[in-house]
Amino acid sequence: MSKYERYDEISKNYDKTRSAVGIEIVLGYILTIPEKLENIKVLDAGCGTGNYAMHLKERLPNVISADFSQGMLNKAKEKYELHNQKNDDLIRCDISDLPFKDSCFDAIICNQSLHHLDDENTGFKNHQKFFAHAFKALKPNGLLIINTITHEQLEDGVWWGKLIKPAVDRMKKRFMPDEHLISLLNEFGFVSTEKIVPTSTIIQEKGYFDPESLYRKEFRDGDSHFSLLTENELNSVFNQLNDLTNNGGLSAYISSRDLLRQRIGQFCYIIARK
Ligand SMILES: C[S@@+](CC[C@H](N)C(=O)[O-])C[C@H]1O[C@@H](n2cnc3c(N)ncnc32)[C@H](O)[C@@H]1O
Repeated sequence: MSKYERYDEISKNYDKTRSAVGIEIVLGYILTIPEKLENIKVLDAGCGTGNYAMHLKERLPNVISADFSQGMLNKAKEKYELHNQKNDDLIRCDISDLPFKDSCFDAIICNQSLHHLDDENTGFKNHQKFFAHAFKALKPNGLLIINTITHEQLEDGVWWGKLIKPAVDRMKKRFMPDEHLISLLNEFGFVSTEKIVPTSTIIQEKGYFDPESLYRKEFRDGDSHFSLLTENELNSVFNQLNDLTNNGGLSAYISSRDLLRQRIGQFCYIIARK
């Protein structure tokens, strides 16, 4: 469970800025599974408000949504109902202790959730528990598709990365470096680990280039970095923005920072096979 982000509360604003970025990568891999679509069984681990599961449900009848936050699950259920999709397949659980039978999924997807496993002082024990459970729950050749952020992307994947440096430093302790993640997956028995970086995709695209967005709680609720700032640190972000505005340098600052984002992207997918 995420200790630093109150997802039951955040669920009210989450979908105002977040969508299923990179879903084409997820679908691309899942559609390579050599099974009829009606037989493919997928788990969305840390499904949140169901944005990814919703896309999958449009093509696949067997998608299970799992999350610890009842608030996020309630939003997902509402979304499935609105789109006339099955809504009795949501499960409240801790993804580091998955309650499923062995060898039952063709794919497990996990988007932007591993850093919420509260592993900053545990030597990534909860990540390891999740990998062990995911390995057992996957069928032979099953896919584990992880959406994460590299340390370089934490620093420079958003134009405001330097303005929120205290949060980025704290976040780095929660995000396992991608090379560590890949080697750990191999230790847990996964093979063919691939990494894909969609450099042109922006996570909170709506409002991303508008500096006013950072002043709005609704926008900040879509990026859990902001929950790792103290009130003083958040005020310091506003002060830095005000200074840049007052000296006429804000647009140039955003443009030059965005050149880095265009090169390194904001997130990556790690794909592993059992
Ligand atoms: C950033 S959100 C991502 C939601 C969704 N996957 C997406 O990308 O839109 C992180 C999600 O992980 C969930 N979460 C955090 N720790 C969890 C845990 N130990 N077990 C299950 N879900 C967890 C939170 O409740 C939240 O919904």
